[in-house]
Amino acid sequence: MALTREDMSAGLSGQLEVFENRMKLRQAELKSLYTGLYQNSWMYAELIGEMEKYYSERDDRLKRSDAYRESDPEWYRKNDMLGMMMYVDNFAGDLRGVRKKLSYIEDAGVNVIHLMPFLDVEKGRSDGGYAVRDFRKVRKDLGDMTDLSDLATACHKRDICILADFALNHTSDKHEWAQKAIAGNKEYASRYFIYDTDEIPNRYDETVPEVFPVTAPGNFTRAGEGNKYVLTTFHPYQWDLNYRNPRVFNEMVYNFLNLANRGIDIFRLDAIPYIWKELGTNCRNLPEVHDIVRMLRLITEIVCPGVLLLGEVVMEPEKVVPYFGTVERPECHILNNVTTMATIWHTVATRDARLLRNQFDIVSALPKEYVFLNYLRCHDDIGWGLDYAFLAGHEMEENAHKKYLNNYFVGTEGYSNSRGELYNEDPKTGDARICGTTASLCGIEKASMDGDKEGMARAINLDIMLHACMLMLSGIPMLYSGDEIGQINDYSYLSNPEKKDDARYLHRGKFRWDLEKKRINHKSKEYLIFKRLRELERIRAGHRAFLPDAKVWTVNTFEKSILVVGRLLDGEKIYGVFNFSEHEKTIWPDEDEGFIDLVSGDMCPMQELTLPGYTFFILCKEG
Ligand code: GLC
Repeated sequence: MALTREDMSAGLSGQLEVFENRMKLRQAELKSLYTGLYQNSWMYAELIGEMEKYYSERDDRLKRSDAYRESDPEWYRKNDMLGMMMYVDNFAGDLRGVRKKLSYIEDAGVNVIHLMPFLDVEKGRSDGGYAVRDFRKVRKDLGDMTDLSDLATACHKRDICILADFALNHTSDKHEWAQKAIAGNKEYASRYFIYDTDEIPNRYDETVPEVFPVTAPGNFTRAGEGNKYVLTTFHPYQWDLNYRNPRVFNEMVYNFLNLANRGIDIFRLDAIPYIWKELGTNCRNLPEVHDIVRMLRLITEIVCPGVLLLGEVVMEPEKVVPYFGTVERPECHILNNVTTMATIWHTVATRDARLLRNQFDIVSALPKEYVFLNYLRCHDDIGWGLDYAFLAGHEMEENAHKKYLNNYFVGTEGYSNSRGELYNEDPKTGDARICGTTASLCGIEKASMDGDKEGMARAINLDIMLHACMLMLSGIPMLYSGDEIGQINDYSYLSNPEKKDDARYLHRGKFRWDLEKKRINHKSKEYLIFKRLRELERIRAGHRAFLPDAKVWTVNTFEKSILVVGRLLDGEKIYGVFNFSEHEKTIWPDEDEGFIDLVSGDMCPMQELTLPGYTFFILCKEG
């Protein structure tokens, strides 16, 4: 039986015994992984000593929460988890501002807030906060570490978790280490990849693809007096850390534990596949990356077992799943469901749900222990990492199809109402990705500009339907702040010299509290979208068939625009039926009577189902 919070005695926290017991169970593996990578027992001993120190310093309240979560390791595998991601400044000015907005967050049904990077960065050269200058300091205009702890405490009182980024692949070039390294300090230089000549950089370039071929081409940046070559996989000011150096690993673990002790519940391991480099490879997903993630997991389980690891693995499906590790040696607790996200948008553009059906089947066949973070869009662009082998069987060739998708979402092909922008269009390969808010990609922006009422109703339906489709998936759904009121693109980035070259700012606009106020008008789009999303989230949280242990399957209806997903648990059967076409469609599912549509409350004949364009049913039958 799970212990209640009250059961956890406050005295427990002071006991080093708890730490030692956790350590005993894990130290053999931790030591073998560490010494396997570093052959350095002195640094290992230092790591253990520091882990004990961070454990001792950990607040009693957090230790109680650790013990509670340890006693119920399923605590995050539920059907009522709902995330919302937000930039602190865009949402509420600063960390204190976010604290003042917790009632709104609760009203939106949210119990996980992803605070986008808030640590100290150099203004104007931060890649949206992912080029950290000091891992121990909050960005000045957002507050300080005390504000962070206070926000965490206030959130925890309301059962809201905090998710934060841990950008461990690189530091800013203004980080103290980088500054010392470029000034010639050899010890600090060994924490990065810095070369005097282009010999090794050229060899890397032969096999390492570029992440931002247009906005930040190349893998190396010239820096310092000697005009040295520094490995910068992302932007020129983001210097890749060298995890071959145990000092880097240890110090980054201490930074991680320091933040964990501030009350962070979930860490998003930013760009995790990139953290190990090896000449002659593409420097992604190397086996050592998995050793490092496994060590982070063990360290977390020993010092702060209430904390979860979310891996940011934006890769092909077969590369993503290994980051869960195995049942005996788990790595991340949660991973981004990136392929499903991209496939949903492919389905919008093609009105053909066959690939999405296949994708649901693939995800549903995975072990039920795996928890995915499901989302329609995030702060980054949408890349077209689809199953092209499958699409080839349906006459969709990769390059031509990517071109179509990009054209569709910028609104120039395929009867599209989308208002997206291209991102990193590579003139060499013709490749590009898409930016835009969910509402703008669904046609809300265009309908609003055209004053087209019917178009607006259709676009809102599509927007809600995509959310409903995301909510059919097991795991943690994540909204992007503003999407719950249908916020459209923000073009102000174009007049900001620090942002104008990065189209991702199109969908990272300020939260529009002026529009949020419009929710009192029951005819406003803000009211409609917010209310309909809340209904769907309540349905999800109120029905056991949405628990991750449910059996999940899809149904072939022979109508390619329609996706039918079934869920079954303890006799409760749910069908989500989604029409991805703007036209009315009918299907004849082979099911019994007795289903109720949970949204309208109406009985639904399962012999013949007719769905107007962009509508859906969530049908339920108790066993
Ligand atoms: C991650 C972030 C992205 C950033 C990159 C480099 O992919 O999501 O915004 O550009 O890491 O830190």
